Amino acid sequence: MHTPQLTGPFKQVVTLANLPTKGPITDDQLQVVPNAGIVLHGDRIVEIVDFEEGTKKRKNVFEMEGDYVAFPGLIDCHTHICFAGSRAKDYQLKVGGAGYQEILKGGGGIHDTVQKTRAATLAELERLVAGRATRHITEGVTTIEVKSGYGLNLADELKMLEAISRTSKEYLLDLIPTCLAAHVKPGEFDQADEYLDFLVNNLLPQVKQEGLSNRVDIFVEDGAFDVALSRKYLTQAKELGFHLTVHADQFSSGGSKLAADIGALSADHLEASTDTDIKHLAGSNTVGVVLPGASMGLGLPFASARKLLDYGGCLAIATDWNPGSAPMGDLLMQAAVLGASQKLSMAETWAGITFRAAKALDLDDRGSLMSGNLADFIAFETTDYREVLYHQGKMKPVAVWKNGRLVE
Ligand code: NIG
Ligand code: FE
Repeated sequence: MHTPQLTGPFKQVVTLANLPTKGPITDDQLQVVPNAGIVLHGDRIVEIVDFEEGTKKRKNVFEMEGDYVAFPGLIDCHTHICFAGSRAKDYQLKVGGAGYQEILKGGGGIHDTVQKTRAATLAELERLVAGRATRHITEGVTTIEVKSGYGLNLADELKMLEAISRTSKEYLLDLIPTCLAAHVKPGEFDQADEYLDFLVNNLLPQVKQEGLSNRVDIFVEDGAFDVALSRKYLTQAKELGFHLTVHADQFSSGGSKLAADIGALSADHLEASTDTDIKHLAGSNTVGVVLPGASMGLGLPFASARKLLDYGGCLAIATDWNPGSAPMGDLLMQAAVLGASQKLSMAETWAGITFRAAKALDLDDRGSLMSGNLADFIAFETTDYREVLYHQGKMKPVAVWKNGRLVE
């Protein structure tokens, strides 16, 4: 595209620009531009203008029939969509009363998915990631973080990261890979510390060298890795130059404090955080990422999203899409339902799945419709932006633009 293009008209463009990165946001702080057009050039946004005025100045116009409202593309900052197999069998056990950790400690759960993911070829994994990411993008998610963590050995962790990287390059998908080799200890190692040492000495340097990921995650939990071992591992990963993120306080407290103290980009889950944990996290630069899909999948209460905001923290919302605790993977629906339950303003919910989620990924070029940002935006067929969350996720975008291109 050689000349900037004007796209519209939109009854409203909700830019999510110039909002606070931490603490509560009220809906009257939202910038809602009426009868607007989005001017883009290549993969970037030039400006948001009055559509009528814009047509007088610009020749290259993509004019749409109908009533639409535009928002920034959604950002899912925590998923595990690179996996093979299904855990419907575990789900049946869980709805029958079995616990997630009970199944895990019995050698099922994550271990079951590890077995199937190890058995899958690189091409099979690529096809699986592409299928899920494509569904996500049609539902408006234009940036997707994707974790490894079902390989748990050198070859299969690298295979997972390679599948994520190839899928991202081959399709119009923006996948942000994270190395979660420290998900649980695989059966091949007797001791958790031996496994983590193996990762630090063998896997992480190779991941770095091959440019497969610049992010490291760990599951800090009973039955996974304790706080002391996790601190050592995260410190070593940081020294190797990785950004950090933590599976924190899902069933027991400890992880979010570690994440905040060590300067992780985000602490994710927070269902079991204490009041003190939430306050501590809110006072740090670490984004709190809540995962309503995991609460729904496990039939457990939501994390205290409202409290995190009221204490002045940065709240992002993600799906945690994975075969075990969160098989649904519907970001808009989960954010809307969380918002209703936790009394989040519409602005806070949108912030959590756009620019505040971008912060959790250390991305400063997306999440709001501002000049210079990536032209990632989505359109809903309505005249009033409030309709979208009101429909609690059933109203899906009718058009999605990624890097300035309309996704077919
Ligand atoms: O975020 N809790 C740890 N990891 C994932 C679940 C992975 C799985 O069960 O396959 C989560 O919930
Ligand atoms: Fe997760």
